[in-house]
Amino acid sequence: MMDYRMRTLTLSALLLLAGACNTSPSASNIELSAQADSVYESLAGAPAAQRGYAVYRSHGCILCHGLNGEKGRKNVNAKTGEEVPAMTYIAEGYTKKEFQEKALTGVKTIQQKNASGQAPPWRMPGWRGSISKSELDDLTAYIWQLLPKDTGDEDDW
Ligand code: HEC
Repeated sequence: MMDYRMRTLTLSALLLLAGACNTSPSASNIELSAQADSVYESLAGAPAAQRGYAVYRSHGCILCHGLNGEKGRKNVNAKTGEEVPAMTYIAEGYTKKEFQEKALTGVKTIQQKNASGQAPPWRMPGWRGSISKSELDDLTAYIWQLLPKDTGDEDDW
């Protein structure tokens, strides 16, 4: 299907770019991998979230949404502050079902900050057909524990 092909292209373009931006891509990949290992270790007390982090990593979310969901990569002319959105407050803005639907479907057209400007380079791939229900549930557990504990109440609005 078209969808699948486009997603593959996006991800390989991303990997290429990640490599091309650094003079020693293998060293930086090793470093990222070590950092991801330590995030994984830190979730040892929460098995579902830990499995979810493995999914977050293996499905490439880490490349666009940050090592631990804290900050996305730059996305020129995207309405979302010209960055891929962080995952930190998803648990506040989405129901679990809505989140899962977003991960399955993706976002093909990224809204632009400046309508007459360039299309933002990164868009949100959809994983329908390449993620299982249990992987999706684990991923949800991981994303949900990212919500900062002390700012989770409605009063902040
Ligand atoms: C190639 C880059 C890329 C990858 C990989 C990626 N995303 Fe995204 N994601 C985006 C972009 C860009 C957006 C912003 C979409 C928009 O503007 O509506 C986004 C948006 C989202 C949103 C909505 C955020 C919000 O603030 O409303 C969620 C949830 C999300 N992604 C989850 C995931 C998950 C889970 C994965 C891994 C399974 C993943 N993404 C992988 C680029 C990516």
